[in-house]
Amino acid sequence: MSATPEPSRVVDAILRWYDTARRDLPWRAPPGSRADPYRVWLSEIMLQQTTVKAVIPYYAAFLAKWPGVEALAAADMEDVLKAWAGLGYYARARNLHACARAVAEEHGGRFPDSEEELLTLRGIGPYTAAAIAAIAFGRRAAVVDGNVERVLARLFAVQTPLPAAGRELRALAERLAPSRRSGDFAQGMMDLGATICTPRNPGCGRCPLMAGCAGLRKNLQNVLPARTPKKTKPVRRGAAFVAVRSDGAVLLRARPVKGLLGGMTEVPGTPWADEISSPLCHAPVEGAWKPVAGIVRHTFSHFYLELAVYRARVGGSELREAAGRERCWWVPRNELDTQALPSVMRKVIAHALQQD
Ligand code: ADE
Repeated sequence: MSATPEPSRVVDAILRWYDTARRDLPWRAPPGSRADPYRVWLSEIMLQQTTVKAVIPYYAAFLAKWPGVEALAAADMEDVLKAWAGLGYYARARNLHACARAVAEEHGGRFPDSEEELLTLRGIGPYTAAAIAAIAFGRRAAVVDGNVERVLARLFAVQTPLPAAGRELRALAERLAPSRRSGDFAQGMMDLGATICTPRNPGCGRCPLMAGCAGLRKNLQNVLPARTPKKTKPVRRGAAFVAVRSDGAVLLRARPVKGLLGGMTEVPGTPWADEISSPLCHAPVEGAWKPVAGIVRHTFSHFYLELAVYRARVGGSELREAAGRERCWWVPRNELDTQALPSVMRKVIAHALQQD
């Protein structure tokens, strides 16, 4: 290849490589056939900010419960949140449900096949619209996720740091996008980024684009893509209260529908802030609250959370007090898995109950 990689050569090299090295992922159609739009959409929403490995069991569970868009549209929001619990970024689950309903009610149960129309649906942004248009409908589209940005920054030796380089990389992707086998090309680029053109120690010796890679020629493969340093995340702190009934049931509470972890289930607790004074004022019931040794830590996209955990056995009049608390309910120990508990709350419960 020449100084600047030639688009048709890049496309040919990626498609040839994809034909032999493609990852076998459950939402992919067999070679030569087109994937079901519902499956492509579901997988793409789940894969936003989540790894392939984490998504696979959730994808299988969703598909078993709701095999098509009409079934998902008819589901209870609460059941969707329960099935989503643990995947994170819970607004995605609400958008998923809203989108399924819109497709069922306003599009006759069929996903629209153009990027433009896909973009009008909840939870579908430019990346996802392009991915669905290409993979499910074979439309020519520039599909640029984090993996593809990295491949392009290296292939064309783009030294502008991310995120500012986004536009330039998109323009390059638009030049490359083929009109034939558009979905295979998009997924080939993603697979290359996931398996060879990895963030660290890229396997350039095995790369189908090695001959034309400007980044490799300039020995920049280990430093590209450049990034503007991120602001450091703040730490927020709080306390969580695990109330345990004599039969082992645990008191849970619904989070407000709006905001972080909106509509999910939690263990009652304090607000999360720089510092919490008098945490016990926020306990859901009177009781002999004992601090559990250690701290539960969790990383969110914009902050780190450190939670102190308190635990109390609750009985008698406190039980009535707890039952009367707004948005609270008791859940038997062996049914905790069925609740819409986000990962941080599962960690809190496991921490509090570890010696039981
Ligand atoms: N990440 C997001 N969508 C993907 C896909 N279709 N194939 C591989 N990795 C992906």
